[in-house]
Amino acid sequence: MIIAIDGPAASGKGTLARRIAARYGLHHLDTGLLYRAVAKAVLDAGHAADDAAHAAAAAAAIDPEKFDEGALKAQAVTEASSVVAAIPQVRQALLDYQRAFAARPPGAVLDGRDIGTVIAPAADVKLFVTASPQVRAARRVAEQKARGVRADERDVLADLLRRDQRDSKREAAPLKPAADAHLLDTTHLDIDAAFRAAVAIIEAVRTGRKRG
Ligand code: C5P
Repeated sequence: MIIAIDGPAASGKGTLARRIAARYGLHHLDTGLLYRAVAKAVLDAGHAADDAAHAAAAAAAIDPEKFDEGALKAQAVTEASSVVAAIPQVRQALLDYQRAFAARPPGAVLDGRDIGTVIAPAADVKLFVTASPQVRAARRVAEQKARGVRADERDVLADLLRRDQRDSKREAAPLKPAADAHLLDTTHLDIDAAFRAAVAIIEAVRTGRKRG
């Protein structure tokens, strides 16, 4: 079974993806880490994030086994990740890895921006997770606080909106729900309620399939 989970920044899709993968015994890939790793490699080498040639070379060379997730969450890397993600050659270089990951038995949950539309268009279940920008910013601030990082909610909100805008407006694999995605708005749901809602959608799709 392949489950595709897409949505804007801090919508809760990462936490949901991890829990759904655990519930169904599937592999999990946070595809945002791939773009973050490319961004970090480009910045560390002293290049600009929109330098297509260096970003594409970095994308071809990343090793997901060696990711340092903490370093990939740094603000400069976060900002640059949506710049490198708009470069078609970067997306192309990361495509095979993601598709191969999805194909590993017994299946996988992948979360990102283009999983249901580009990476796994034939996924068994597609979720598009959203929440209001204010709620997403508040969650991101709480998350950072838990990691000991102080953040101003207005700055975080501005960063999220700028990234969403870049991700939705780009030509290459823009952030948008697949035509057959199930929308899950978590604005008024805590993580347990969001998880129950997601499982209900997955079960309904599976049951429907068995009947059909
Ligand atoms: O999900 P996360 O916020 O970690 O993703 C970081 C950035 O990577 C996003 O802002 C987006 O530009 C890019 N991304 C993408 N496609 C994906 C996953 C992430 O373009 N499938």
